Parts: sequence; structure tokens; C-alpha cells
Amino acid sequence: MKLTVPQIMAASLPLVMVTAYDYPGAMHAQNAGVDLILVGDSLGNVVLGYDSTAPVTLSDVIHHARAARRGAPDTFLVVDMPFGTYHTGVTDAMRAAVAIIQQTGADAVKMEGSSPEVLEATRTLTRNGVPVMAHVGLLPQTATAQGGMKVQGTGVEGAKQVLEAAMSVQEAGAFSVVLEVIPARLARLITERLHIPTIGIGAGPHCKGQVLVTHDLLGVYEGEQKKIAKRYAEIGALSTGAIRDYAAEVRGGQFPARENSFVIKDEVLDKLY
Ligand code: KIV
Repeated sequence: MKLTVPQIMAASLPLVMVTAYDYPGAMHAQNAGVDLILVGDSLGNVVLGYDSTAPVTLSDVIHHARAARRGAPDTFLVVDMPFGTYHTGVTDAMRAAVAIIQQTGADAVKMEGSSPEVLEATRTLTRNGVPVMAHVGLLPQTATAQGGMKVQGTGVEGAKQVLEAAMSVQEAGAFSVVLEVIPARLARLITERLHIPTIGIGAGPHCKGQVLVTHDLLGVYEGEQKKIAKRYAEIGALSTGAIRDYAAEVRGGQFPARENSFVIKDEVLDKLY
């Protein structure tokens, strides 16, 4: 059963959110029983091969969200508003959000930050019936301006800024807020102060919910494990191994075998000679 915004806001159990970018990914997430699916602009990093989320466009997220929606028709689907689509005024933000909702069937959109432009866009969208998930702490779309992809809110000023950011997105009408890569005790304080649910990634165990990039939890990319994630599988190694086995069997003549082939009767074939 798909959750509604009021049910998400009132949830008593921890909320579970994962990213998905296509039909099978969303289907697996729905079958696993997650509460929310995020078509994140991490799409740029883990699917499209960019080194940041900044190049991801509105048509990229729409294309992928449509596929994800087909895979998970019964799960609350949030779609990231790409960099640049909500910073140039409320008309642009509303237009981008409407395109996402109408063309993908998403239930909500997510925007990063708490600048006056983002708060104004949040107010406009929520006033007009578009549920907004906010996102504070580390902001991957503009991480360069934050000094890189590193933990935020460790000093007094930084911690105050993250707390104020979280309060301001709540005041602007967001129904929930992602807290990305901030100290666990700061995330606890924010979670206690807000009435909307906090959803953490690299923000410790005290948030109301947790989100992970699915490719991180599945181990799609081999190499060092990120501190903020945990690998529950080694899909990358499994995929490479399976393709290597297939290649070896083709080269060794074991595939395709008899059971993978179709038969034709002798009398039919005889007519061709
Ligand atoms: O794009 C994304 O996947 C995200 C999550 C990290 C929250 O914003």
C-alpha cells in the first residue's frame, strides 16, 4: 500500500528510503517493502557516469522516473529537481515540478538547500499542492561551494547553519527533510526540534528514517566502501563474474548448449539441401 504524505509525517516506525533509477531497480525496491523510493540525481554518478550530479537534466530525471514508476506503481516516489531547475524563480521551479509530476506520476519532488530562492520555491510548490522533500547538510549539487563532499556542521557556526536550514525548510512547508553527512548528535538535535520527519544519509541512527543510494548498498561498484553506506551484497563482482563465465563458455563452445537451442525436423531440413 502506497503511503500518503500525512502517513509519512506521522510514521512511528523508521522510514526506509532507497534510490532507484529504472524499472528493475524500482521493482526490487517495492518488492523489498521500502516506504519511499527516490529517483535521486545521484543518477548522474551511479548510472550516467558523471563525476557529479550537476550535469543531470530535467529530461534525464523524467526519463528515469517514468521507468521507476512503472517498476513501483504502489510505492511513494520522490524525484529530485535537478541543479538549476529551481534557482531561477518560482515560475521555473513550478514548471519543472509540474513536468515531473505530470510526466512521471511522482508523488513528491526534492530540492537541495535553504537559500531564499529554494525556500520561496518550496512555499510556492507546497501552496499549490506539490509535496516537497527538503535536503540540508551536504548538498551534492553545490558541494564545490561547500568545500567538497565532506561532513557539514562540525563547528558551532556550521552546526547552527544546518539547524537553521532544517527549521527554515520546515517553515516553508516541506513534509520531510533529508539530512546528509552531518554529525549524528546534530542530526538527533534537529530530529527532536522538527515536527517533520528527518531522513538521514551519513547522519547517524537518530533520524526518523534512512536513505541509501542503492548502488552503494548493493556493492555495484567494487573498491573501498563509503563510510556512510553499508554493502549488503557484492553485485558488481557477481555481474563481472557472470559475464566472464558466459564469455568463457562461448569461447569454449559450451554455450549455447542443446537445451538453449531449437530443433527442426529432418524432413524439413532435407528440403533445403
Ligand atoms: O540523489 C540522491 O541520491 C540523494 C540522496 C543521497 C539523498 O539526494
